[in-house]
Amino acid sequence: APGLGDLAKKAGLKYFGTAVDNVVLDNEKYTSIAFNYSEFNQITPANGQKWMYIEPSRNVFNYTLGDQIVDPSKDAGQLRRCHNFLWHNQLPDWLSHGNWTKTALLSVLENHIKHEADYYWGDCYAWDVVNEAFNDDGTLRQDIWLQTIGPEYIEHAFRFARKYTSPGTKLYYNDYGIERVNNKSVAIQQMVKDFGKRGVPIDGVGLQAHFTVGRSPSYTEIRASQQLYTGLGLETALTELDVRIELPDNANKTAAQATVYAESVRACVDEKRCVGVTVWDFWDPVSWVPDTFPGWGDACLWDEGFVRKPAYYAVADMLRKA
Ligand code: G3I
Repeated sequence: APGLGDLAKKAGLKYFGTAVDNVVLDNEKYTSIAFNYSEFNQITPANGQKWMYIEPSRNVFNYTLGDQIVDPSKDAGQLRRCHNFLWHNQLPDWLSHGNWTKTALLSVLENHIKHEADYYWGDCYAWDVVNEAFNDDGTLRQDIWLQTIGPEYIEHAFRFARKYTSPGTKLYYNDYGIERVNNKSVAIQQMVKDFGKRGVPIDGVGLQAHFTVGRSPSYTEIRASQQLYTGLGLETALTELDVRIELPDNANKTAAQATVYAESVRACVDEKRCVGVTVWDFWDPVSWVPDTFPGWGDACLWDEGFVRKPAYYAVADMLRKA
């Protein structure tokens, strides 16, 4: 049977992909699905390209964890969304505990982007250049970047990314909670408009799409939030789709989850400039959800026994009909 990647391409998307974490690469059953082009024609490293692993000491670069994901995905012919250059989380201690001036931190940022972009030259369909910079109320997150550099750290990151990534790499701003028109998604639209006026490079906005059964945005809401950005000429993608359930799971909740998955994917398929969907892992035992939200889980398309769940078939059916 055709996999989700095959079906997504037929439905007009560039890809259907998954995040992959390093901790599970020794599981052959897992890797046989993750690096199967027919199922997933795109991969995002869930952790391996983040700052704490890539630059563990200042100006000392170690690409081991990134390569563990990137290399097999290149062998499989998959696209990659590379993740990420700048975030407030998973920073190395030398950086987060440093006492930086604005000039020094900007040069640390430029040096990091320069090295990582150069190392992965030509390997990334897209880079998440800046991840999760906004609060839900539309203000900027108070983190080391804002406090040391000021709000212009975001445009510096995008300019560095354009300068050092290979030509054609799509540069994304990526965030959660922006799958409805709300203070946060509108603040990001304002930023994109401002970038457009001033020539700051940006190609796309990633809607993470970490959803919860019973509280997820509707198809119409996801369409409307994407149009904040597609209306300005940018592309969009659902970059981290998962749909968590309050445990214990049961057939009703699993059915509701299947609907949320299918409707979310449909909201990308129907949006001309939405290029693809990435699930934030496909296998329940490696999902980030239970660690962060105790009592919640079963958010993925495959259960712990590697059996495809109703959500898988709902997505496949929707893609087949699209
Ligand atoms: O590196 C250590 C390893 O040495 C140790 O053996 C292992 C034992 O638990 O922990 C490892 O670190 C964990 C890391 O993932 C790598 O597996 C951290 O404890 C854990 O907190 C970290 O979680 C990641 C999380 O980002 C950090 O905030 C998740 O796997 C990852 O899926 C998640 O991804 C984020 C996206 O980047 C941005 N959007 C939200 C999304 C979900 O939180």
